[in-house]
Amino acid sequence: MTNSPYTLRDFFAQSGLPLLEAKMLVEQALGVSRAWMITHDLDVLSEHQWQALQALCNRRTAGEPMAYIMGSREFMGLDFTVSPAVLIPRPDTETLVEAALGFLKDKVTARVLDMGTGSGAIALSIAHFAPQTQVFASDISQEALAIAQVNAEKFKLDVDFRQSSWFDQFCGETFHLIVSNPPYIHQGDEHLSQGDLRFEPRLALTDNADGLSCYRIIIQQAPRHLTQGGAIYLEHGWNQAEAVRALLIQAGFAQVCSIRDLAGIERVSGGVWLAE
Ligand SMILES: C[S@@+](CC[C@H](N)C(=O)[O-])C[C@H]1O[C@@H](n2cnc3c(N)ncnc32)[C@H](O)[C@@H]1O
Repeated sequence: MTNSPYTLRDFFAQSGLPLLEAKMLVEQALGVSRAWMITHDLDVLSEHQWQALQALCNRRTAGEPMAYIMGSREFMGLDFTVSPAVLIPRPDTETLVEAALGFLKDKVTARVLDMGTGSGAIALSIAHFAPQTQVFASDISQEALAIAQVNAEKFKLDVDFRQSSWFDQFCGETFHLIVSNPPYIHQGDEHLSQGDLRFEPRLALTDNADGLSCYRIIIQQAPRHLTQGGAIYLEHGWNQAEAVRALLIQAGFAQVCSIRDLAGIERVSGGVWLAE
């Protein structure tokens, strides 16, 4: 094995990345612990190791999100496998999961549907923290569902995943709780071509319309898939709460309200289905 002229200390000095990120890349490329790095920072790296580090560093420098490079992201305390086929789970979405868990806490059993499940972040967190529930999840993307299934196996959770456009594969089925974090970015939003969003699936980010079209479909169809007293919670953008509440009221939902995330932004809106 040929040696490079470089050590880990050289990599940290030259990478141009924040030290934490550089250390994470070393963990990923060399399969070593942070403790090992402290005691081996002056060891000469092999040419192969140095090239592996440079390859990851180049990806990060080009703006690729750390979660895709590392292949995982923590959500609700669980370590989710992610790939460019799925949205990277966001801390904001924990607001939706917590609302769902609050609704479920007194229920002995419940059927729950998460639509547009992506990595399975919402569905699997609910299955993990509310084990009395029977969880179903859909996504239109087969690639996303494959990642969700990897996560289900990793966490040893049983979720019924189906490839479906919203309710299409749930004909005649009802649920006590429906949740979704659908694509909600306006097609013209400049953020789509900036930062992490450049690397995430467009299908997960935008409805290719005004940002509200998925809510119109989901809210219009939800009543026939909810039990009497069943609830719906939908995550949305920072400026969409009023519009989503209006759609819920228009569809006949009761107790329509919005929930703020940790930043104080109305992030989730929902309601209860009481009508026949
Ligand atoms: C914003 S991402 C949410 C992913 C995940 N639930 C989360 O919160 O991290 C939206 C998801 O909706 C899926 N999606 C887009 N259009 C859909 C449709 N017509 N039916 C079902 N899922 C759809 C995308 O593939 C993507 O996984």
